[in-house]
Amino acid sequence: MPNPRTFQIKSFGCQMNVYDGERMAELLEAEGLAAAAPGEADLVVLNTCHIREKAAEKVYSEIGRLKREDGSRPMIAVAGCVAQAEGAEIPRRAPSVDIVVGPQAYHRLPALVGEAAAGRRAVDTDMPLASKFGALPKRRRQGPSAFLTVQEGCDKFCTYCVVPYTRGAEVSRPWAAVIDEARALVDAGAKEITLLGQNVNAWEGEDEGGRTQGLDGLIRALDRIPGLARIRYTTSHPNDMREGLIRAHGEVETLMPYLHLPVQSGSDRVLRAMNRSHSADRYLRVLERVRAARPDIALSGDFIVGFPGETEAEFEATLEIVRAVNYAQAYSFKYSPRPGTPAATMEGQVPAEVQDERLQRLQALLNAQQLAFNRATVGKRTTILVERDGKRPGQRVGKSPWLQSVHVKTDAPLGSLVGVDVVEAGPNSLRGTAIPAEGGVSFRNVPARPEEIPAFAGMTA
Ligand code: SAH
Ligand code: SF4
Ligand code: F3S
Repeated sequence: MPNPRTFQIKSFGCQMNVYDGERMAELLEAEGLAAAAPGEADLVVLNTCHIREKAAEKVYSEIGRLKREDGSRPMIAVAGCVAQAEGAEIPRRAPSVDIVVGPQAYHRLPALVGEAAAGRRAVDTDMPLASKFGALPKRRRQGPSAFLTVQEGCDKFCTYCVVPYTRGAEVSRPWAAVIDEARALVDAGAKEITLLGQNVNAWEGEDEGGRTQGLDGLIRALDRIPGLARIRYTTSHPNDMREGLIRAHGEVETLMPYLHLPVQSGSDRVLRAMNRSHSADRYLRVLERVRAARPDIALSGDFIVGFPGETEAEFEATLEIVRAVNYAQAYSFKYSPRPGTPAATMEGQVPAEVQDERLQRLQALLNAQQLAFNRATVGKRTTILVERDGKRPGQRVGKSPWLQSVHVKTDAPLGSLVGVDVVEAGPNSLRGTAIPAEGGVSFRNVPARPEEIPAFAGMTA
């Protein structure tokens, strides 16, 4: 197979995979390859996710689809978490795969491509001690909102989860490396940075003065970068939600009022079986403190239904905690047994029909909460970061501070902050009208009265 001149990267799974996909693209471009349209690339990188069975199986149907009409195919690389979990098993099952590269080894992708071009199958799922980040080229333009991985891996070992195996041990990137990359992103035009990690709020490092800092310290340092208008972070674990970070939500103007804090279940018995090491009550108490610091914060979470042994009453405890919190947004999943995880062999696996039915009930509740949250912003004024063109002519789409998509008629360029009056709300987006820039719109002027939004009134003290 000749050396590829063009490439395409397809990322599945979480935002960390999206970030890795961008870094791989930068790496290949630095090697002289050019990005190509789907179906036209010499090299296709499938950047995969292993979190649930459906996600993991997707890679094999994707590989099948890469065959061209004339019977030829591109060079195929499988990257990401399936690559890490299945390694050399992948080409055994799908012989057209030329390269397998894990999430901690993708800085070696150019060398692996060389191997494959020379006709040798290349598998690299090492987790080298030296981080890949030092070997990656500088960041380039990504658009108004950029991801920045600051922490990787996980030491929590929830009994259902593959991440500690596919991403390895929890590692924080050094302070200076993060600040440098953030500056490079802002220089390249980013107005918003989302700090990423599987347990991003466990980030720890030493600042220039050798002082130990947590994620809040890092956020305060990023807040001082001129031109960076918005900071977000995801995903967090309830046990790592420390006082300083909670305080930052009330004090740092650029830190957006949005928190994704998964709880998974409202039943303490299930939480113990999941090895989450917190109770439902402790989770609620954390949120109470967060809401005290930032009353208008939008809350988001992850839920698993039908975990092994979950009874109807235990599932109802999950509905209960959802009612108590009142989420602005959430993700919910049917439990999927993953090879090598303790939960996969637990007794009491819940039948698919029961899982389906529970998921429907949970999603109905979460959807209603999301719609209520969106509707409560109608009639309010806020600021959006314009991120892309809308479907209709003259329309742009931006994000509110609460991460809602807002459709607006405006000719403001991508990357601008535009004041809007919210006029209409649907389940997944809002419509607004642009207001003159001199309006002096602050991030905090929606909602005028937090108690007007059911999501904010839901907490019981
Ligand atoms: N590190 C993050 C999330 C990692 S995976 C955290 O701990 O919050 C994203 C979500 O996928 C999890 O929060 C969980 O809700 C879901 N998930 C993980 N493993 C799963 C499994 N085996 N079956 C179904 N959902 C799962
Ligand atoms: Fe998985 Fe739990 Fe780690 Fe999240 S905290 S990545 S769910 S093991
Ligand atoms: Fe999936 Fe790996 Fe992310 S398993 S959710 S791509 S860390």
